[in-house]
Amino acid sequence: MMPVRRDLRFNLPPERASDWHGQGPYVTHFFNALSLLFPAGERFFMDSVRYYRDQVHDPELKKQVLGFIGQEAMHTREHIEYNALLEAARLPAHKLDRRLTWFLNLNRRILPPSYQLAMTVALEHYTAMLAGMLLDDDTRIAGSVEGYAQMWTWHALEETEHKSVSFDVWNTVMKPGLNRYLVRTGTMITVTIFFWLIVFDFHVRLLIADRKRGGHLRGMWRITKFLYGPRGVFPGIALEWLRFFKPSFHPWDHDNRGHLQRIDGLVAAVEASNAAYAAANGAPLKASRRGIRAAA
Ligand SMILES: [Fe+2]
Ligand SMILES: [Fe+2]
Repeated sequence: MMPVRRDLRFNLPPERASDWHGQGPYVTHFFNALSLLFPAGERFFMDSVRYYRDQVHDPELKKQVLGFIGQEAMHTREHIEYNALLEAARLPAHKLDRRLTWFLNLNRRILPPSYQLAMTVALEHYTAMLAGMLLDDDTRIAGSVEGYAQMWTWHALEETEHKSVSFDVWNTVMKPGLNRYLVRTGTMITVTIFFWLIVFDFHVRLLIADRKRGGHLRGMWRITKFLYGPRGVFPGIALEWLRFFKPSFHPWDHDNRGHLQRIDGLVAAVEASNAAYAAANGAPLKASRRGIRAAA
């Protein structure tokens, strides 16, 4: 599996930033909370893997590391723009991003590089689990505004494509044995606690900032079903989370590479939407997006 850097832009209508998901604003803000984690989080991932790059000698894995960094750099760029739309919609996007950056910088200062890499391995398992859920069942993003759905699908596909890279670097640079296992799994438990605390906190803050919108009862019902229902996020990832604790675990034990056949179709669809945007607006997407960023 060789991760490919794909330089894509997405047509995200700014006026729908708080309500782009087919299941309404409460579910939209769950995804928006995740989006707020990406710029700071993915920079942390790239740095923690980059630190060990010179200790990777396998030419295949070296190339995969480059592909991984290339993909995460594109995700970071696109989520910075996405988050600027949230800020422009009067949501506290920049404040929350600064808080997370502060927290991750604290981790960089107090944790040795091996623990930082273990955090990345655990969080990459999270992104792979959540991406797998989105790709397994189209109803989880059905009825959403096209550009937002395309962006999340692109991100989910690439997270799947590179899901084993940080793990393979980890296994390459750490001495095998009980210690390696304990650091990996112990970090997963800590990361799980902090990850969900932060997602919950960001989600609630976005909902509070957007409280004038109304429809709270219906929204609460939909997000509860989305997260905890029989086809919800938590039941959906529980087994995959537990599998991480198997001593012989590898991300590709769960072989879902079939999803990657969708990439070419998605890229073609994104390019078609962007061409339609340029024809309708007399300017390519890239130029007009710069204006949005400046406004935010
Ligand atoms: Fe990513
Ligand atoms: Fe990733």
